[in-house]
Amino acid sequence: MNILVLGSGGREHAIVCSLADSPRAERIFVAPGNGGSAPGVVRAELDQMDGAAVVAFAEANEVGLVVIGPEAPLVAGVADAVRAADIPCFGPGAAGALIEGSKQFSKDLMLKYEIPTAEYAVFEDEASALAYLARHPAPIVVKANGLAAGKGVTVAETNDEAVEAVRACFGGRFGSAGAKVIIEEYMTGPECSLLAFVDGRHMLPMVPAQDHKRALEGDKGPNTGGMGVYSPVPIVSELELGEMIALMQKTVDALISEGIDYKGVLYGGFMLTSTGPRVLEFNARFGDPETQVVLPLLTSDLVTVMLACSKGELDQCELQWHDRWAASVVLASASYPESYETGKPITGIEAAEALENVTVFHAGTRRDVSGAVLTNGGRVLNVTALGSSFQDAREQAYRAVDLIDFEGKIYRRDIGERALRGRNAWE
Ligand code: AMP
Ligand code: GLY
Repeated sequence: MNILVLGSGGREHAIVCSLADSPRAERIFVAPGNGGSAPGVVRAELDQMDGAAVVAFAEANEVGLVVIGPEAPLVAGVADAVRAADIPCFGPGAAGALIEGSKQFSKDLMLKYEIPTAEYAVFEDEASALAYLARHPAPIVVKANGLAAGKGVTVAETNDEAVEAVRACFGGRFGSAGAKVIIEEYMTGPECSLLAFVDGRHMLPMVPAQDHKRALEGDKGPNTGGMGVYSPVPIVSELELGEMIALMQKTVDALISEGIDYKGVLYGGFMLTSTGPRVLEFNARFGDPETQVVLPLLTSDLVTVMLACSKGELDQCELQWHDRWAASVVLASASYPESYETGKPITGIEAAEALENVTVFHAGTRRDVSGAVLTNGGRVLNVTALGSSFQDAREQAYRAVDLIDFEGKIYRRDIGERALRGRNAWE
């Protein structure tokens, strides 16, 4: 079967690598893709936001499955266009993608169906939001309602920061995404991402993962798209995992009750608070970089699972996992998440991949005419290693990181370090 994957991140490189492992995959097209490659994978020139163009490409190339990686085409309804053309599609339509595209929709859904999350209030003008802040002192969390590429959330430690965040949203920093603002209760505890395959009726949870959102070591500095990740998560108890799975099921049931036909990945971002797991956010897609550790642990055939999701047949699937650990370190460009330079030659990827159990997923990379790999974004590479223990996976990932170089390479040296110290490290 021919498959079309939309997106250009490390997540999409991990998806195409897993799809390429399937005996069911013939040609895999990725649009727009990046400098990463995999057997049988070709890049396609295609506007991933244009549903009609995606359908035309899929029809012309006998594509039997379209996989939509990022949130923007999902929120724009590209999956609806693909399904309307009777092409199996992995990814929710615009109605389901609202769970990520509108924080208000997602919070109201949680309130209605009693899914535990932070207390919140929604504002459409600056004066009322500032009046609310005057009554609710920091620490407090300010969020732009719409999609803001992971930058719309401010965890304000001081009242001044909270006021600044509200003014930035209403002042237009996030465009129309900031036209409404959510102000939330500040929660504490370790975070855990739990992704699930969903077919409109059934869901199958994946292995949990823990992202590292802050730019700097010690979980300091600004939020980023994610600087490193591991899976499974040693500090999550069986009880908490069971609670998170139950909350994911409750959310899928809520979507069904709302008449939403949700097919794809539902991503639950949880905080493990002293009163149990509570939802920080939902995403309508695979996580990035979570996918770069979760999919390498999956031994089931990904084409089969994605087709089952797109056809409502997930109850006929079972997920099998390696009994191993995975860790991934993000190599980023100097100054990320602020502005950065691109076009720097990258060396050592082959040497890193020659190490046992190491895969280097490309994120912000491109190839020049000679085929050399250059930096082309903020997050450049995801260096992933599997190991028979959590320690092994971490150490092998860092061995591989040391072999790769480019001008301005930055990364966190402490991915997974806090988990090694145990749950007390979050007290
Ligand atoms: P979100 O995009 O909503 O997941 O927020 C990004 C990050 O901000 C989360 O991963 C948390 O680290 C932090 N965050 C979001 N909401 C809260 C909250 N209510 N309390 C504390 N931290 C939060
Ligand atoms: N890793 C966070 C996200 O994918 O939103």
